[in-house]
Amino acid sequence: MEISVQQTIGTDYDGLAVALFSDEANLPTELDEKSWTAITTLQQQQSLQNLYSSEMLLLEAGSPATRLLMLGAGKKDEYELQTARRLAGVAARIFRKKGARKIALLLPAGSLNAGDVAQAFAEGVMLSTVDSTLYRSGEKEKAAELEEVVLIFGEGGEQIRERAARGQVMGEGINLARWLANEPGNVMTPERLAEEARKVAEINQLEFDALDKARLTEGGFKAILAVGQGSVNEPRMIVLKYKGAGENQPYLGLIGKGITFDSGGISIKPADGMENLKYDMSGGAWVIGAMQIIAQLKPDINVLGVIAAAENLPDGNAFRPGDVIGSLEGKTIEVSNTDAEGRIVLADGLTYARQLGATKLIDLATLTGAARVALGSSIAAAVFGSDKDWTSLFLEAAEQAGERAWQLPLFPEYSQLIKSNIADLNNSVGGGGGASLGAAFIKEFSGNLPWIHLDIAPVSRTDEKPYIAKGSSGHLLRTLVDFVLLNVE
Ligand code: BES
Ligand code: MN
Ligand code: ZN
Repeated sequence: MEISVQQTIGTDYDGLAVALFSDEANLPTELDEKSWTAITTLQQQQSLQNLYSSEMLLLEAGSPATRLLMLGAGKKDEYELQTARRLAGVAARIFRKKGARKIALLLPAGSLNAGDVAQAFAEGVMLSTVDSTLYRSGEKEKAAELEEVVLIFGEGGEQIRERAARGQVMGEGINLARWLANEPGNVMTPERLAEEARKVAEINQLEFDALDKARLTEGGFKAILAVGQGSVNEPRMIVLKYKGAGENQPYLGLIGKGITFDSGGISIKPADGMENLKYDMSGGAWVIGAMQIIAQLKPDINVLGVIAAAENLPDGNAFRPGDVIGSLEGKTIEVSNTDAEGRIVLADGLTYARQLGATKLIDLATLTGAARVALGSSIAAAVFGSDKDWTSLFLEAAEQAGERAWQLPLFPEYSQLIKSNIADLNNSVGGGGGASLGAAFIKEFSGNLPWIHLDIAPVSRTDEKPYIAKGSSGHLLRTLVDFVLLNVE
């Protein structure tokens, strides 16, 4: 798909979308007379008063487009970037369903920064194009693809073009992550995830490595090996490296939980809803998406992506409750519950990131049901951090990006509770506070470096939203990339 920016409308579109504020007669001057008349009539009928309300009209020959879509943009002083993103997404999605190939969007910037808005429009368009129905026979062939999306921007200019291009890069990376996460467990195995990461590396000139079982064994990655030993789909520790600041500079480490399917293992989960545990590699998928975006935006910073990929299944060879296992770091772990496997693979993931030169760490994981209990489903991600200022900066970035995230505590009591009677750490202790206990466990492997833990279990998948298809959400990936860019020295 090509997204471009134009100052005037042009012609021959399958669809033209226009959005209007409810409290301002802001008819775009760029509009042709016929569309203008149609819209004025609708405005008089007050049918676009509500935010996101929409009306579609067929236009006569001689108009710039076959179809005109009018959208309510709500009140001007309530207009946010998230509104802009969603308006563009809704428009693209509606036209796409109508089989449109070439469309133009004439949407307002309100009093927001025009560059920010251009980026948001491009993101919205991109995010609306992911299908989670790729395995329906024939559907792939049927689905119309938008070929050309023109953003009409009165002011135009190189800066606007750049920001729209950046929005497209963001959207493509987020869609990559969503696609990876949407794929089922029998397809997206640790090996396949590594293969997809390799392709991303090759296309975007990233350094790539994937440690297979033999290399993990040789290297002493005892924690991730224990989690993966019950599955014939052997674990992989996947590495993507971006060097934007030169050889001797430290790395910012992004570490993702990549459990390609989490049955719970011997501590098996109930059948109801278990199918959704194919999304348990979302953290890893977000890291791969982030690395692609970073490689394309080329900031002056070194970033290391580590994806700890394994499948958690019960089997004659599986690890069992009560087992004591080692780890790359050296700490021993009493496995009280094989279903608390995410923190175990991340233990080796964080250690390896540090060994490879990371001096600041951010991990992403669908770690606990408890985070979802605390924050609700599909609303906000849980944020934990060892460095107050750095964590606050992340929370600010999330607010800027329009992605909800909320900090939960890391009191020293949690670190006391996860101590084992027979080993260094216990992976599952009762008593509530599950999200914080999980975070405290991972912290043990952060080597006292500045570290942020993102529990995305509450938000990794979404039900049908106005422009986001049901399935993987990509929630917090935009924030993550924005935040990485903020860390450029
Ligand atoms: N991947 C799950 C958490 C999860 C559950 C994410 C459902 C998304 C949907 C994680 O591995 C897990 O099973 N956590 C346990 C930890 C417990 C055994 C300490 C949980 O939250 O119940
Ligand atoms: Mn689990
Ligand atoms: Zn899990």
